[in-house]
Amino acid sequence: MLVTDFLLNEEQKTYGSVYITSFSTLFQALVCPTLIVIVSWSISYLAVALAERQDTLRLLRDKNAQLLAQEKELREAKLAAEQALSSKTEFFARVSHEFRTPLNVVLGFSEELIKPPPPGEGGQWVALTAETADRVQYILAAGESLLRVVDDILELFRLSSTHSQNGGQLLRVNMTAVDIPSFFGTVCDLVEVISKENGLHFIKHLDPALPRCLIIDRGRFSQLVMNLAFNACKYSRPAGGVVSIRLTNEGPVEDGRPGFITLRLDVQDNGPGIPPEVKDRIFESFFRGGPSMETMEVEEEEAAMPAAAGVPDCYSLPATGGGGGMRGGEMTGYFEDASQLPPGGQRHRGVGAASPYSSPGLPTTNSVSGVHAGFNAGLASGAGVRSQQYLAGASPPPLHASSAGTKAGSHPFPPVLPPPHRNYKAKGHGLGLAITKQLVDLLHGKITVRSSLGLGSLFSILLPAEVAEGSSYEESLAGPGGAGGGGRADGPPPVRDLKILSVEDILVNQIVLGGMLQQDGHRVVFVETGTAALSSIDPSFDLILLDLQLPDMHGIDVLKTLRKDADPLLAAMPIVVVSALVLDREKQECAQAGADGFITKPVKLGLLRQEIRSLWDSGRLRRREERGETGEEEHAAEERPAGERSGKEGGNSGIED
Ligand SMILES: Nc1ncnc2c1ncn2[C@@H]1O[C@H](COP(=O)(O)OP(=O)(O)OP(=O)(O)O)[C@@H](O)[C@H]1O
Ligand SMILES: [Mg+2]
Repeated sequence: MLVTDFLLNEEQKTYGSVYITSFSTLFQALVCPTLIVIVSWSISYLAVALAERQDTLRLLRDKNAQLLAQEKELREAKLAAEQALSSKTEFFARVSHEFRTPLNVVLGFSEELIKPPPPGEGGQWVALTAETADRVQYILAAGESLLRVVDDILELFRLSSTHSQNGGQLLRVNMTAVDIPSFFGTVCDLVEVISKENGLHFIKHLDPALPRCLIIDRGRFSQLVMNLAFNACKYSRPAGGVVSIRLTNEGPVEDGRPGFITLRLDVQDNGPGIPPEVKDRIFESFFRGGPSMETMEVEEEEAAMPAAAGVPDCYSLPATGGGGGMRGGEMTGYFEDASQLPPGGQRHRGVGAASPYSSPGLPTTNSVSGVHAGFNAGLASGAGVRSQQYLAGASPPPLHASSAGTKAGSHPFPPVLPPPHRNYKAKGHGLGLAITKQLVDLLHGKITVRSSLGLGSLFSILLPAEVAEGSSYEESLAGPGGAGGGGRADGPPPVRDLKILSVEDILVNQIVLGGMLQQDGHRVVFVETGTAALSSIDPSFDLILLDLQLPDMHGIDVLKTLRKDADPLLAAMPIVVVSALVLDREKQECAQAGADGFITKPVKLGLLRQEIRSLWDSGRLRRREERGETGEEEHAAEERPAGERSGKEGGNSGIED
């Protein structure tokens, strides 16, 4: 029974039922079709959306496939580019080998021709006439310049390959703990020599706030300093110029890594400056010069202008001392110690006026001739310095002059007006800064340059450096080209009187090497092949100098065979590789095979001596007398002067004492 049975009478029930029925009919008639329309519309909408979605998905899938294909193509292209670059580097390394071999002869003989008479020997030594000696010096300088270009280009290839391969396969960064004051002192000594030779005033500043010991790549960092410093010397005014190097602590690194600081290197000069229009290009390979260089070629009459009006008061000492740079577009000096300033510290307005540094002996051509890059090999052996010495021929002005007359507030960097020399043209190949920039990138640093025409340039490098424990620094680690590297004239005396087996198949190389070794009183036996080396070696020898590219076998195989010899004396024989091959990989292979050292051709006497000296110091070499041998009669029958070889394969040749 329903509730309505009690509430409604029959009539009401009938009306109610009719009402409900009509409403229901009306509802069905109106709402259901609407619903049906809505539902079907929704369904068709969903279907369309689904179809669209499927289209989109298909499109996305296609796009994805396309992107994947493109990515694959790019990866392949990158690989191909890397391989091309790597094979380009390989190719250039081979080409450089071809350069080095004849250069070995050019440089070796030139050095030999101009060497001073051996001590106590007057008889055989013939002095060259001054004119011939000059010409030989030119040959030497030209050879060194060529060698530097070859080295620079190879370095650039290596650096680009390293960047692209992202793993530094071709150029490794060699981070070691370095004692900063001693490192800075050594590098500055070298720059001071170059500055002096160019009649420049040199100023150095080491921030006392720097930690004593930092973890850096010593060799690469000194390469950076040298590249910038040599440019500063080269592009500074021929006389009266000032070059400054400053090493400071810029505080924490950007990313806040604990234990790291930002090391800042500033190299400043008061040369002609760099024109703004070429400032962006100076880091490109082979880019040279610009109007600033041309302004350096001035006629003397032009140069001898009266004290110029309108020359800006450009150099002012910062009130607090320290902190150099540009202020309002002008260079500011950053000297803390007034005694470091050029004597008088006065402004040089008229170049015709006597400059405290004017050096009458300065040549019309100032040629530092690309000394920067040669520091790797050349400077280490004094070669770069020597060739510059000769070409520049300047009598350096007195440094450390009295500071009397220095006015506080006067500018230590006099502005450069046209220099008092005509045809001042700095030589170079436009590679130094390109290498510098790439090195800075490799070390995750930044390089900036600020320059004002006629006032000078300031190059700054910021590098992250980890602070090391003061007790653990390596005092004397010199990387490739590390400052203080071999061949310094003031080094220890050369080791003398060794019996050496040289495995070298090229006659002129034998003569060059023989001449150098003979100079230090060594006896040399030459063999031309690996087979001859293996059969000739006996324990009476002290040292083997081994070329790698031999006619019958590779030098590394000779090395490996010797290291496995049953005779322990032979297996332990000191072996230094002397090769024109230059890739790190080849050097590593030699080291792994047991070589004691590696000398790159062209052989420099200083480096050869240094290599022998370090073997001696490490106890790897012993004098024959110490072994109770005289060595006089050994191999006497088979030794002949190198020039008189029979040419017989495997035949020995020798150079007499
Ligand atoms: N301190 C400087 N003052 C003025 N110009 C500079 C200075 N340093 C570099 N430049 C300009 O930048 C150019 C490129 O310098 P970079 O060191 O790369 O080559 P380079 O000195 O000409 O030759 P290289 O370094 O290969 O011997 C130079 O030719 C010079 O015009
Ligand atoms: Mg340069």
